[in-house]
Amino acid sequence: MIKLHDLYFKPFISEQEIDTAVQNMSDAIAKDLGDEMPVFIGILNGSFMLVSDFVKKYPKPCEVTFIKLASYEGVKSTEDIQRLIGLTQDLSGRTVVILEDIIDSGNTLEEVHRIFENENVKQLLIATLFYKPEAYNKDFKLHYVGMEIPNKFIVGYGLDYDGLGRDLPEVYQLKTTQHMTNLVLFGPPGAGKGTQANFLKEKYDLVHISTGDVFRYNIKNETALGILAKSFMDKGQLVPDQVTIDMLNKEVERNTGANGFIFDGFPRTYAQAEALDKLMDDKDSQINAMVALEVDDEVLVKRLLERGKTSGRADDADESIIRNRIKEYYTKTAILKDYYAKQNKYYGVNGVGNIEDITVRLSAVIDKL
Ligand code: IMP
Ligand code: MG
Repeated sequence: MIKLHDLYFKPFISEQEIDTAVQNMSDAIAKDLGDEMPVFIGILNGSFMLVSDFVKKYPKPCEVTFIKLASYEGVKSTEDIQRLIGLTQDLSGRTVVILEDIIDSGNTLEEVHRIFENENVKQLLIATLFYKPEAYNKDFKLHYVGMEIPNKFIVGYGLDYDGLGRDLPEVYQLKTTQHMTNLVLFGPPGAGKGTQANFLKEKYDLVHISTGDVFRYNIKNETALGILAKSFMDKGQLVPDQVTIDMLNKEVERNTGANGFIFDGFPRTYAQAEALDKLMDDKDSQINAMVALEVDDEVLVKRLLERGKTSGRADDADESIIRNRIKEYYTKTAILKDYYAKQNKYYGVNGVGNIEDITVRLSAVIDKL
């Protein structure tokens, strides 16, 4: 992922794929033109990289020149095309091939046709490396297209976002979800996860997704997924990961404008961690960190026994049950700690001390992400 000015872009088309597309275009044009010596005209600025690579691959003699037009402002095409440098030579009777980096709305191409209206060229051929069919709203024929791409803003290989990105040898696509901070929050029973999640969600404007709450909500409201989940539970079976993931997906989609999410109670297995990564990737986003509250067993036991005195929760009253729950937590999460540590995303935070101090420690981790 890269950041240009205020926006994030993800890798989209590799150098190798671009090279192949340019080669194919060059081969096709050379084959069609035979011994006709073409004048290739690049449309500046965007096409400089394409033209350079293209003419090096072109197997026969040719001429090369440029015209300079400008249309884009930021990430939006504008109707108003400025002619900054026009034709500087007589092209009558010549075969002209326009080399465009990208054709989007077709406004620039319309201006190109206007420029050639009275030039009496033998033929005017249009070649573009990238083409966005969903955005194109003109009727001009495109004779050669390197690659059709979806209607999303791209940068690299000559294309810029407000001046940046032209130098990149590969192409990046604008992320539809801009930068989010997504955390997986972990902690043994009694670590204070719930309390801290509440502070973090306020402070960073994150959406707290507790898998337990999501399950209860879906079952109580008898959503399709809730009914499905319950059918497994009624048979005493584990709810398949995919059902849980689908529920989480719905939660994420309900909060598309969020700054990020705190996942609580999920993932619990390696497969779930992978599924969560995939879910975030599909949303053009990612898990940034697994934050685990680290609290010594003896402190946990003391805290939970204390809580048991007032909460009335039976599993908070018995020391050996408490110790078992803590042990189970470490057995189950060790593999997840590895999973995120391998991606340099594991952050252990000392969870002993007063609540504010712990929040400060957690914030220090999140602020650095
Ligand atoms: P059109 O006039 O809308 O067809 O757009 C053509 C020009 O807009 C191109 O020559 C580029 O300069 C610019 N452009 C179109 N789409 C993109 C994009 O996705 N990224 C960067 N520039 C673009
Ligand atoms: Mg251009």
